[in-house]
Amino acid sequence: MEYQNLLVTLKDNILYITINREKALNALNQVTLRELAQVIKQVEENDEILGVIITGAGEKAFVAGADIKEFAGFDLERGKQLAINGQNEVFNAIANASKVYVAAINGFALGGGLELAMACHIRIASENAKLGLPEVTLGLIPGYGGTQRLTQLVGKGKAIEMITTANLISAAEGEKIGLLNYTVTQEELINKAEEILGAIKQRAPLAVAAALKSIQAGANLSADYGTEIEGFSSCFNTSDFKEGVSAFLEKRRPKFTKK
Ligand code: CAA
Repeated sequence: MEYQNLLVTLKDNILYITINREKALNALNQVTLRELAQVIKQVEENDEILGVIITGAGEKAFVAGADIKEFAGFDLERGKQLAINGQNEVFNAIANASKVYVAAINGFALGGGLELAMACHIRIASENAKLGLPEVTLGLIPGYGGTQRLTQLVGKGKAIEMITTANLISAAEGEKIGLLNYTVTQEELINKAEEILGAIKQRAPLAVAAALKSIQAGANLSADYGTEIEGFSSCFNTSDFKEGVSAFLEKRRPKFTKK
């Protein structure tokens, strides 16, 4: 099947998904999210697929977040719908999947990009990768599960620091705090993902699926995505959101007014 913004290949029981919007640093616009949702559905239905690798096109970015240009004019309702659809059809669909997804993070993984990586079951990054949830610089909060999944992966203290400072961290730091399973060179990135899925492929698929289901059931019990969606969408009603997004588009620093 042909996609506008994805490259999808099945080889040796592994499905390779490359997000292919290199000029926009592979930002997740609606078309890309819809296409991802379609592929994720097919992964569940296709017995030939035993694992998935998601990466980004080029050497600069995995995914630099949700597409800021696309949601710049959204109001509260459209902001809410953006988060609900994204979470249901893509992010939670990956996290709750019965096959292992590996994020091969080949550069910037920011905002929705890091959230996509965190929805995956295993994260490997190249040494040049930069990771962060910088939404508060836009007058927003993470809306694709980031407040919950980052906290689960690295603990509350580090998650609060990363989300409220919006500071980016290196791959080495990401590995140290448990956000990444491995850091490797850009050349080794896909090989490392294949090595891990190579082991998983030899295990009993029904047992792997049952393990994923059990682990995820516990994670879901301690996650509150509803409060995140409310917080995310309420930001769309603020002047600080309009200022944050305008500042990004005009390539300047924002001036927030707490309104
Ligand atoms: N959405 C739309 N376009 C984006 C984008 C995004 N998230 N990130 C980068 N781009 C575009 C830039 O606008 C630029 O386009 P133009 O050439 O048309 O100007 C192009 O990609 C290249 O980016 P830069 O010129 O900014 O490259 P840089 O090397 O100077 O900076 C960067 C790289 C630090 C990653 C910077 O692009 C950046 O900060 N991007 C935004 C990161 C971000 O805030 N992500 C969170 C988005 S909100 C979100 O994800 C919400 C959610 O949880 C649901």
